[in-house]
Amino acid sequence: MMRRGAARVRWNRAVAVVRDLEERCATPAALLQRVVNSLAIEMFAGLASEGGSKVRMLLTCVDTLPDGSEEGTYYAIDLGGTSFRVLKVELGAGSTIINRKVEHQPIPEKLIKGTSDDLFNFIASALKNFIEREGGEDEGKALGFTFSFPVRHSSISSGTLIRWTKEFSIEEAVGKDVAQCLNEALVRNGVNMKVNVLVNNTVGTLALGHYFDEDTVAAVIIGAGTNACYIERNDAIIKSLGCLTNSGRTVVNVEWGSFRPPQITLTPYDICFNNEAWNCYDQGFEKMISGVYLGEIARLVFQKMAQESDVFGTAIDGLSTPFILSTPSLAAIRKDDSPDLREVGKILEEHLKLPDVPLKTRKLVVKVCDIITQRAARLAAAAIVAILQKIGCDGTLCGTTKVRTMRGVRKRTVVAIEGGLFQGYSVFREYLNEALIEILGEEIAATVSLRVMEEGSGTGAALLAAAYLSTKQNSM
Ligand code: BGC
Repeated sequence: MMRRGAARVRWNRAVAVVRDLEERCATPAALLQRVVNSLAIEMFAGLASEGGSKVRMLLTCVDTLPDGSEEGTYYAIDLGGTSFRVLKVELGAGSTIINRKVEHQPIPEKLIKGTSDDLFNFIASALKNFIEREGGEDEGKALGFTFSFPVRHSSISSGTLIRWTKEFSIEEAVGKDVAQCLNEALVRNGVNMKVNVLVNNTVGTLALGHYFDEDTVAAVIIGAGTNACYIERNDAIIKSLGCLTNSGRTVVNVEWGSFRPPQITLTPYDICFNNEAWNCYDQGFEKMISGVYLGEIARLVFQKMAQESDVFGTAIDGLSTPFILSTPSLAAIRKDDSPDLREVGKILEEHLKLPDVPLKTRKLVVKVCDIITQRAARLAAAAIVAILQKIGCDGTLCGTTKVRTMRGVRKRTVVAIEGGLFQGYSVFREYLNEALIEILGEEIAATVSLRVMEEGSGTGAALLAAAYLSTKQNSM
């Protein structure tokens, strides 16, 4: 009897950890609306002056987007997510991708934290091998370079790295022109090509979206990291008034990962990322949303449950290895709808070395993954609405709740979207869509369409390489 009582107390302690997490991660619609407003304000501040906000609002020098008339063969390199890609894209008239070859390669761990020469040599030699395998000609071909980190551009084909994010950390590369680093590595490796556009992955995705549909006004990435870009009017970019270019519009790379929403209190698990290895107090928003972090947040919660209680038994060493639980595993746990949560049991055993976890504990494990997923997806939805609000596409008419129409027809807004977390995790998508409806209301949400752009980051860079080769200025 006494033993049963003690077991119940221990169980309740584990439940209390989960309840506490749930309370701290709650994001009711009213809170999300406040997050939307703060991010929109930060975006204004970031456009007003350099360093005016933690949200950097980087100018990309992109004032021309592909319009479907591009033709020819182009190459692209896509660096920044979990794997790196080399692409060859053949374009025909009328928004036709005749052929697209994409090669994925994992980046060896040692290169992620090694030297910039090693990293860029690896990329250049991968491109060289790819061209050879393709039987292709490299001579003078345009090369798009997708580099998915914050960069200060000096032109469309050059820009210096402001800081690394996600898992990357090669200190001596900070402040260097990354296009030049790649160009030099191409020379060292005997590749006769030069970077003619350097773009963020959001910008690549926007380019592909725009290529297919000119109503595309913004692009979002929800993968290993998270971010967005959108088309801004030059007269709204106060920090560079007068310096901007031809078309009257410029694509702005928001870098929303570094946003720190004042309404959201960090959980003790989020705080674990505030150390030297993880950009200290930077990238706070990204750390609550993106693929590099979600699995690790869950592991930290499980570890706390194991410290407070014996729900995982006594052999809990597996729980102390950082990043042992990947975000795809978190997704698989949440998606398991078998009555005995068999998949959950399997993942706990195989990844965390926790055998024979009882069903009721597995249910708690699913709950933890659900809470973490839900907060991430809802915050991402709020950020998307902030962009729409910034460009006046959130459906409101001058701050009212009226739906915008054009000659009586509701104006449609297309947001291109890419990233493994969004594409590969249906529950995440459902929560995100649900939150969009909660914030915007059903009628307005129906005018916003999120269009997935497969391989948008890299393909878009090839398209921009094409667009910037031609002298014409396309419409934006
Ligand atoms: C980077 C962004 C990038 C995003 C998505 C973030 O960590 O700072 O530049 O777009 O990840 O990959």
